[in-house]
Amino acid sequence: MSATAEVKAITSPQIARAKGTTPLVCLTAYTTPVAKLVDPHCDIVLVGDSVGMVLHGLPSTLGVSLEMMILHGKAVRRGLERALMVVDMPFGSYEEGPEQAFRNAARLMAETGCAAVKLEGGKEMAATVRFLTGRGIPVMAHVGLTPQSVNAFGGYAVQGRGEDADRVSADATAVVDAGAFAVVLEKVPESLARRITEEVAVPTIGIGASAVCDGQILVVDDMLGMFTDFRPKFVKRYAELGGEAGRAIAAYAAEVRERRFPAAGHVFGDGPKAVDEGSTA
Ligand code: KIV
Repeated sequence: MSATAEVKAITSPQIARAKGTTPLVCLTAYTTPVAKLVDPHCDIVLVGDSVGMVLHGLPSTLGVSLEMMILHGKAVRRGLERALMVVDMPFGSYEEGPEQAFRNAARLMAETGCAAVKLEGGKEMAATVRFLTGRGIPVMAHVGLTPQSVNAFGGYAVQGRGEDADRVSADATAVVDAGAFAVVLEKVPESLARRITEEVAVPTIGIGASAVCDGQILVVDDMLGMFTDFRPKFVKRYAELGGEAGRAIAAYAAEVRERRFPAAGHVFGDGPKAVDEGSTA
């Protein structure tokens, strides 16, 4: 018998049943150390295709490949014990049709060990969501502002204002009816987020969609102040780690130039082995 208690990971049916209870906490992660940091606090950890912009310096998510998602998915898997792990299907890996989507989603699941995938789109993706969920692949849907469609939208504007609300609401209903266990609502007015949250039977996860949603998601580098190229209105910075890191790097550079680093405590003597070879804090 194991000496440590087994940690049971949260499942997608548990997330679906959490509708209307305590708000669900979701963050992105792309690496093992960050996955370890967020895991104890999160219900869902998403390996988002935002990795392309946040870690690879791409101008949008369109250049993200399946191989990139697999690489980052594997890294995140090693850091998670508790949270449900969801991996984004990148642009071009699912839009041709249900068979293509199944082939690539199955690869993501088999190679990363994730428990679900996320894909963008509403009514036009309903048949694909039904195909995947009917064959053992839990799907988190994503409607409203879907960043992979930035060229079709002509930018990253709020979706579903005024008469456009019916379109976004119909999208959410279509993917939920097709079997999605949760639906991300990105950048929609609060009134529409409330309407969809009341209409659908699974949790709505908001990003720029107000606190009326059943849960919230943010890009972890945004909320930690690590990604500073731009800051959407919906991002709250809970830390300024980018500034802190910049100050630390400047201090290191100054100490190296002034020969103040390495100091005596970081240097090996020529005496007998042992006492001075351990790691330092
Ligand atoms: O790629 C991403 O990070 C997302 C979000 C919903 C945060 O899709």
